[in-house]
Amino acid sequence: MSQLPEPQINIFKKSTPLLAKVLKNIQLTPEQGKCKRPKIEGSSSIHRIILSVDHDQYPYLVGQSAGVIPPGSDPKKVEKGSPDTAYTVRLYSIASPSLSFGMKKDTLEFIIKRDNVYDENGDILHSGVCSNYICDLKEGDTVTLTGPAGKKFLLPTTDFVGDIFFFATGTGIAPFYGMCEELLEQKLINHTGNVTVVYGAPYSDEIVLKDYFENLATKHKNFTFITAISREQSNPFDGGKMYISHRIRELNDKIVHALQNNGKFYICGGPKGMERGVLEEMMRLSGTSMTYEEFKKDLESKNQAFIETY
Ligand SMILES: Cc1cc2nc3c(=O)[nH]c(=O)nc-3n(C[C@H](O)[C@H](O)[C@H](O)COP(=O)(O)OP(=O)(O)OC[C@H]3O[C@@H](n4cnc5c(N)ncnc54)[C@H](O)[C@@H]3O)c2cc1C
Ligand SMILES: NC(=O)c1ccc[n+]([C@@H]2O[C@H](COP(=O)([O-])OP(=O)(O)OC[C@H]3O[C@@H](n4cnc5c(N)ncnc54)[C@H](OP(=O)(O)O)[C@@H]3O)[C@@H](O)[C@H]2O)c1
Repeated sequence: MSQLPEPQINIFKKSTPLLAKVLKNIQLTPEQGKCKRPKIEGSSSIHRIILSVDHDQYPYLVGQSAGVIPPGSDPKKVEKGSPDTAYTVRLYSIASPSLSFGMKKDTLEFIIKRDNVYDENGDILHSGVCSNYICDLKEGDTVTLTGPAGKKFLLPTTDFVGDIFFFATGTGIAPFYGMCEELLEQKLINHTGNVTVVYGAPYSDEIVLKDYFENLATKHKNFTFITAISREQSNPFDGGKMYISHRIRELNDKIVHALQNNGKFYICGGPKGMERGVLEEMMRLSGTSMTYEEFKKDLESKNQAFIETY
């Protein structure tokens, strides 16, 4: 029987952070002008950031998040005359498996999107402070980290029999990158069952790490990779945008089987409303007479649903 350690939290705090070096910053989406997204909709820039982090110092489990403190002073706090003008910590899902890719316990990865607001012409109206800071980092730069954070959004830590579904929108794919690696390639626990990723994004070139997931699907018979490309595909039910909830409806019997047989459902990403759409679809398929709140609570209490939406 395999056994992973219990999650540790808040080892590094804002007052006592960990400094980590950037090993790589890889842009995963095409540049504006070369991408499918029309200019009028702004741009989507998603990066994979690899940091040098010694796991003996920062012992994370995949599914936990790490905090990042952007450098400089927050102008809003300066204006208010706050004694502490440092930016607040932003959380990012850890995208690498608990023992790193390569099982060397020496890195921590993020998948981060520049969180900007665009005007009606697709020009930047507001820029996200921390996401742009991270996406601009160069090899050798130093990042200030807190954490690890969170102890609920985790894979089973002991051997597990049952199907696992990962439902992601946008950067919600981040934790599932490391989780799939850990479950299927590293096999840190003995898992018997199917693993399915359902991943939604607006355009096909914003489905990041596609080659990685498609390669996993060719290597592992129990792994399925499904995408929902909202602004390129229409769903067969009402002809509207294709969302992950429509893919869930298509999976029908598989979802019902997992609901009835100890299956696990992980939901991650934004917008926040996506979580309700996903759970309502599962609820409909299950034929339950529970209310939405009861259904969600029931699955969470049975350790069948894990939700991280932002
Ligand atoms: C548990 C958790 C895990 C997460 N994991 C990830 C992850 O893996 N990857 C990821 O990319 N993100 C993730 N996030 C989101 C992340 O924490 C940040 O919220 C995100 O990067 C935005 O932070 P920022 O500092 O860039 O934007 P902020 O500076 O905090 O701004 C927030 C938003 O407001 C907009 N804005 C700024 N000024 C104005 C204004 N005057 N008027 C209107 N709007 C304005 C910005 O453009 C931005 O869209 C996660 C969040 C949580 C809670
Ligand atoms: N990582 C970040 O940058 C970040 C940080 C903080 C908050 N957020 C929030 O998350 C939102 C999207 O984040 P993102 O840019 O990472 O994702 P994204 O790349 O825009 O992908 C989100 C996908 O989910 C779809 N979607 C929208 N509503 C849905 C619903 N109810 N059910 C299922 N799918 C739905 C979207 O479709 P359409 O868009 O085509 O309708 C899109 O295909 C942002 O608008 C923001 O509110 C994001």
